[in-house]
Amino acid sequence: MEEKKKAKSDFRYSTGETKVPWAAIGENVDTDDTLEIVKFLIPPGDDKDDYDEQLLKVEEELKKLKEKGNYATKLSLGNKVKELEEEVKKLLKVKYACLVTNATAGFEIGLKFCGLKPGDEVIAPAITFLSTIQYPLEIGAKVVLADIDPRTINIDPEDIARKITGRTKAIMPVYIGGYPPDMDAIMKLARENNLGVVEDSAHAFGGWYQGKASGTIGDFGSYSFHEVKNVNALGEGGIVVTNTDFGEDFPKSRFGGFDIAHPIEKWLYDVVALKGKGEHYSVAGNHSSTEVQAVVLLNQIKRVGKIIETRRKNAEYLNSRFAEIEGIIPSPLDTDEIKGTYHLYLFRLDTDKLNGDIQDFKDKLTEKGVTQIPHFAPLYRFSYLKQLGYDTEAIRKTCPNAEEVFLHKFTHLPLYPLTEEQLKYMADSVIECVEEMRK
Ligand SMILES: Cc1ncc(COP(=O)(O)O)c(C=O)c1O
Repeated sequence: MEEKKKAKSDFRYSTGETKVPWAAIGENVDTDDTLEIVKFLIPPGDDKDDYDEQLLKVEEELKKLKEKGNYATKLSLGNKVKELEEEVKKLLKVKYACLVTNATAGFEIGLKFCGLKPGDEVIAPAITFLSTIQYPLEIGAKVVLADIDPRTINIDPEDIARKITGRTKAIMPVYIGGYPPDMDAIMKLARENNLGVVEDSAHAFGGWYQGKASGTIGDFGSYSFHEVKNVNALGEGGIVVTNTDFGEDFPKSRFGGFDIAHPIEKWLYDVVALKGKGEHYSVAGNHSSTEVQAVVLLNQIKRVGKIIETRRKNAEYLNSRFAEIEGIIPSPLDTDEIKGTYHLYLFRLDTDKLNGDIQDFKDKLTEKGVTQIPHFAPLYRFSYLKQLGYDTEAIRKTCPNAEEVFLHKFTHLPLYPLTEEQLKYMADSVIECVEEMRK
């Protein structure tokens, strides 16, 4: 069969009817490549012979399809990315959305527009993932860790208030496990003190707070579509959103400040710096994402409502099993005002009623074959802050709740994808462990 020609360009500028067109894609994604992706995403199960037989059929069908079809002509930042962004805007009722490599890139973009520069201060919760504070640390801004509310493990607005100084530029509330922090109080503080708010809504895509989508309440919100999240973009992905109009600067913040609409003299494009608050300019990074990731995410976000519902039901089941068990404090669930995403189930012990604490509990649970559940350690406990010159001992003293819940009181349980048997086994095992620890 004669090899098909590459399709003509649809690169960012039209090449018209040139004899030698620009092709946006160097090497086509060929049928072999597609088959390898299929094999990777759906590896063989127990019956290898049957698998190979089915795979041969897929290969034949793919070849036939190729004869009828064409090659994709765009792999990075094309129409699928645009379509996804439009869908997300509708779903979250937010004005601007930008697909990026991961949530961490979104925090960077948000903080740049907040005008964050070296020496400024950013307030973030003591308990979160390392990414929340990565960009401030990278540029030499100062990270100030606030204590958490032991009921939700989210940032405590009262401690934020205590830690605001004349150098504070932004607050970064985090939706741990998808449960909203006290955004009302946080926004009040931010407005009173003229601070930017960049929501770490990595866990919170599809959640709601007082009728607004989680992540759309502050100045920016950034969601994660990393493989472990409720929905994913082939392993990595993020979307940063805002309701503030930054004009063309917002989409440019994802790709180097590249400005094709206003080319410089004798060249095809311009490169611009991003203007943040207070006239502080910063350089845009490259956080571009791919069409294939957008295709997958477009599909997965159609299921997000159902996924959250399944997780919520699992959380309700766990709460119903734990309600009467002395020593367990059930997880906060939805209210009229709050719709969580149930990325994780917040599990807390009432240690006054038990011999031992969460560390003993986790050891026991592991013995029963319920895998050790990763959860978040306070950031001041990791080496990097000390290595960067932070007095981590002093920080620890200002975050007594974070220290107490981390050492003694909380962990997270997984919610999905668990079979009914696994969920029941986990609930039974948790109850057995707690009963063994009862005073
Ligand atoms: C609380 C929190 N914030 C931020 C992130 C970072 O998300 P991403 O990997 O998409 O950058 C994670 C990732 O797990 C997270 O748990």
